[in-house]
Amino acid sequence: MLAALGLTCSVIAFFLYFEPPSSFCPSTSAEEKTKDSVEKPIVLLWFWPLGVRFDFKVCSSYFNIDSCILTDDRSTYSKAEGVIFYHKEISWNLNNLPQGPRPTFQKWIWYNVESPTNTARKAGLDNLFNLTLSYRRDSGIVVRNEVTIKKPEMKDDLVLPKKDKLVCWIVSNNNPSTGTATRAKYYRELSQHMKIEVFGAAFTGHQLKYEDYYSTLGSCKFYLSFENSLHKDYFVEKVNGPLVAGAVPVVMGPPRENYEQFLPNGSFIHVDDFPDAKSLAEFLQHLDKDDEAYMSYFEWRKYYKVTPHLLSTSNEFIHPICLACDHISRDKSYHVVNDLYGWFFT
Ligand SMILES: *[C@@H]1O[C@H](CO)[C@@H](O)[C@H](O)[C@H]1NC(C)=O
Ligand SMILES: *[C@@H]1O[C@H](CO)[C@@H](O)[C@H](O)[C@H]1NC(C)=O
Repeated sequence: MLAALGLTCSVIAFFLYFEPPSSFCPSTSAEEKTKDSVEKPIVLLWFWPLGVRFDFKVCSSYFNIDSCILTDDRSTYSKAEGVIFYHKEISWNLNNLPQGPRPTFQKWIWYNVESPTNTARKAGLDNLFNLTLSYRRDSGIVVRNEVTIKKPEMKDDLVLPKKDKLVCWIVSNNNPSTGTATRAKYYRELSQHMKIEVFGAAFTGHQLKYEDYYSTLGSCKFYLSFENSLHKDYFVEKVNGPLVAGAVPVVMGPPRENYEQFLPNGSFIHVDDFPDAKSLAEFLQHLDKDDEAYMSYFEWRKYYKVTPHLLSTSNEFIHPICLACDHISRDKSYHVVNDLYGWFFT
């Protein structure tokens, strides 16, 4: 963006034979850099989540967020306005958190993208953080792929990809300790009544390639968006994927009302709408034959749009960090998270 602007400016300058006014064209490198480092807050990533390193530049290149200086350099601690702590990396005795005085302007950010079922209750985290960073709507910083309103003049792009599968499911985690038993049972029941194409490590032994993710989803009429555990607001990529790819998500997770707070009604099918897996199978088979009824599940696309989420493990972690960067640069208000678990586990 800056580069493009710079180019336009020099082209204009070339044609008009005068120096462009500084308010019109951005000043160049050296001067700009010092100005930036004075004005932009530092946001420090204390741990690399699960040890995965990624390039902070993705914030500006993909999310258009460039309002802070992101770093993993702990020597910047005393100047950092925000410090991000990935929950899984915090040690049980908390001795890998910064010790000693905490600058008064600094905000500690509790970063957790797991559901309560998969979050360890480490003691001593009350009255420690200033902001929460999670998928929950009531977090200090909310991480979700939001459905957004289309501009009325935007054309309806409703051309569905060619379908050669009825129901699909990508599942990489089948570890019952993470709460997967409910969805595994439902899947077994459903598969007695209809064919389900299964992808992913849990059943096939190999991960679906990232580059095949959206096209695979798009080749299915329905996609099983079954969460590993059932919690308020806990549904993100598994629903966003099919909505982006042009498949109808069949959701299992929190109650329908919770989904309706985030997704247009009529964009998904909820397993709770049916007394059992057999009736759901009958309904999906009916939609398979009734094209008009099936297409009604895409009506929402005339008014709303969805954004593809990034797929690789490293990119999964960067989105929340970019949002934290944006938040810290805009919001200067005082916050304390008193009862972290009282909030998160209820
Ligand atoms: C959404 O759709 C469901 C099922 O078709 C219906 O029961 C519910 O009343 C609808 N909710 C709203 C807010 O329109
Ligand atoms: C952040 O939280 C700590 C711990 O509760 C508190 O002492 C501090 O004043 C808070 N700072 C800001 C900037 O909100």
